[in-house]
Amino acid sequence: MRVAADLVLENASEVLTMERAGLTGPRRGSDLREIGRVERGAVAVRGEEIVWVGPQTELATHVDVAAGATRLDAAGGCVLPGFVDSHTHLVFGGSRHDEFAMRIAGKTYLEIAAAGGGIRSSVRHTRAASEDELVALARARLDRMLALGSTTIECKSGYGLATEHELKQLRALRRASEGHAVDTVSTFLGAHEFPPEFAEDRDGYVDLLVSEMIPAVAESGLAEFADVFCEQGVFTPDQARRVLVAAADAGLAPKLHADEFAPSGAAELAAELGAVSADHLSAISEPGVKALARSDTIGCVLPGTTFSCRIPPAHARRLVEAGVALAIATDFNPGSCAIDSLAVIAGLASLQLSLLPEEALVAATINAAWSIRRADRVGSIRPGKLADLVVLSVPDYRCLAYRFGADLVRTVVKRGQVVRDAAAVPATPI
Ligand code: NIG
Ligand code: FE
Repeated sequence: MRVAADLVLENASEVLTMERAGLTGPRRGSDLREIGRVERGAVAVRGEEIVWVGPQTELATHVDVAAGATRLDAAGGCVLPGFVDSHTHLVFGGSRHDEFAMRIAGKTYLEIAAAGGGIRSSVRHTRAASEDELVALARARLDRMLALGSTTIECKSGYGLATEHELKQLRALRRASEGHAVDTVSTFLGAHEFPPEFAEDRDGYVDLLVSEMIPAVAESGLAEFADVFCEQGVFTPDQARRVLVAAADAGLAPKLHADEFAPSGAAELAAELGAVSADHLSAISEPGVKALARSDTIGCVLPGTTFSCRIPPAHARRLVEAGVALAIATDFNPGSCAIDSLAVIAGLASLQLSLLPEEALVAATINAAWSIRRADRVGSIRPGKLADLVVLSVPDYRCLAYRFGADLVRTVVKRGQVVRDAAAVPATPI
């Protein structure tokens, strides 16, 4: 049966669908290398959805291209699903570029935080910002990230740390997303730090989270997930459990910032709670690795954060070998990682964490989609999924590591709309 299309993407050197017949669920082990490569592929789209993908030579046999349809020329570039950035903190006021200079001079992330910098500095600026200012900042960041190929982006609150300011951040995200091409996914991270008002009464803040903040957020309908920064010196596993159990009872699915700087049992807790994802894992313990591998929790590593904080990266090969379903994300935030390109992070994941280029791409697309419960709609190129597509200016996906740091995204299609398209200069590796 022939399908009708109103947009076709042609002349790709390769289309990476991330699909293989019979492969369902988050990818683990050798399935993390399944990129579904179609040599000289083409993609056909109708409205917001993909209707066909296959070799260019079969396009005319299977697809009726409507008169007046958009014909996009990939000019020998590599075509991928839009990137899914499953962990960001993109709504905030102020900047902390000064902290980067302090880290270069030898201070650690936790030392800077203890001296009044860190998350609390962003809390001061975010509380001082109006909702309209946060909306404008968030929109500008979404624009930039979409141009860099991220078509679905998860965003956390966590710089308000008081009911009114957390709700302001979440509302700002909702407003920034309205009318914006990017699809966003919202996470409540009221348990990101202890606000100054509760510096001497940490359990008091946990009480407030449970009795007031979580019910207010759930009632507002502004978040789908809840997250906790479970780390030495921040929320203990017991406090994180209290918050996430209350959140789950209120309908917010659990996620965790787990074992970023020191092993605290956070990955084990994520597995115990059936968290949707456990993120960071740069200091995960061996029991934590085993617990995650046995669970349905996606392990999300954030190579830009360890790189920017100048600390050893997550042992991603160990996670893959153990059978953890791995994702990668930017963690874009004002303090620990200001890198907003998931394409760049994929290259870094190969260079620094030794993820094979295939694994890095699966981790940044279909597994990332699983980690925010969007795998039914995005993360791979398959008929019926959203037409979220990226064309690179290089003919081979392995150039993401080879050309690390360069913006290799040439064209971005979101829900069937062309949102970035550079002139079709023939793609070259270098
Ligand atoms: O994921 N680790 C905690 N939260 C963020 C950092 C946020 C910040 O420093 O502002 C992270 O790295
Ligand atoms: Fe984070």
